[in-house]
Amino acid sequence: MTTSSLSQIETELAALKTTALESIANLSDLESLEQVRINYLGKKGQLSVVLRGMGQLGADDRPRIGALANEVKESLQTLLDDKKSQLQAALIQSQLAAETLDVTMPGIYRPQGRVHPLTGMIDRVIDIFVGLGYTVADGTEMETDYYNFEALNTPPDHPARDMQDTFYLPDGNLLRTHTSAVQIRYMEENDPPIRVVAPGRCYRRDTVDATHAAVFHQIELLAVDEGLTFTDLKGTIKEFLREMFGDLPIRFRTSYFPFTEPSAEVDVQWQGKWLEVLGCGMVDPNVLKSVGYDPEIYTGFAAGFGVERFAMVLHQIDDIRRFYNSDLRFLRQF
Ligand code: DAH
Repeated sequence: MTTSSLSQIETELAALKTTALESIANLSDLESLEQVRINYLGKKGQLSVVLRGMGQLGADDRPRIGALANEVKESLQTLLDDKKSQLQAALIQSQLAAETLDVTMPGIYRPQGRVHPLTGMIDRVIDIFVGLGYTVADGTEMETDYYNFEALNTPPDHPARDMQDTFYLPDGNLLRTHTSAVQIRYMEENDPPIRVVAPGRCYRRDTVDATHAAVFHQIELLAVDEGLTFTDLKGTIKEFLREMFGDLPIRFRTSYFPFTEPSAEVDVQWQGKWLEVLGCGMVDPNVLKSVGYDPEIYTGFAAGFGVERFAMVLHQIDDIRRFYNSDLRFLRQF
């Protein structure tokens, strides 16, 4: 081991201080700062190495070197601390700069979607009936003859079948011609009291024109309970039409449907003209029997109407085909 003299250690400490100051001054990031700290001030750092030579000094010289070493250590530590806060501040600055929002940049155009007018109409009707205590039911678009006709008191040779020109499928099933089929499906699965509203797509072999579509939408209404009367039907329809069209005159005209007895059609006086808006009636006892309800105990009322028709009246739309053309200029209006 080389012998260290007092002046040698002093020189070494001074040199160490000079190079350390230089390295600290040149630091540009926090990781190298930590490296520099360990290099000079760590347990096995350069300062410790120099001080190891102290062992060979006389007892008189040691305090002097000790004081000098402390001074070097403290000034390095202070510089390191200052540098550290500088680098941290700079880091935050650069992060802020990178995240700056340029509020003058043009935005990205995100077209806003809209509810299709038919969906909007269905939602509105459902809202009204939910407010009256009804729940929503649905069935299937492909139906059997039984659900679409037979259980609805419309046997195969019944003349009323001609009212609804039907799409038959090769397997003998059919595309439902009305949502009335849901009545049977729902009653088969549930016991009275019943209050349901059933929106859905229907199909008929109609020649397409301004007021006819082969695919269209209906909403069905069904209530079954003990003691329901035609008055309940009238009150319900009246309230529904009032919420839908406003406080307009309405009238019930006698009509015929196989699944209701008595039956009625309802007109609304809309812009001075009587406009037919729905069919309804008291559920025929035969229909109740077909689902195993006792018509001596239960009575019911039902109604059905076209969603397109409602939407056309309320939005003043002249051609039913506009609903299906996907013309955005049309759809954006709703
Ligand atoms: N299903 C009939 C149609 O499509 C509409 C209808 C009339 C439904 C009277 C009913 C009803 O529930 O009671 O023309």
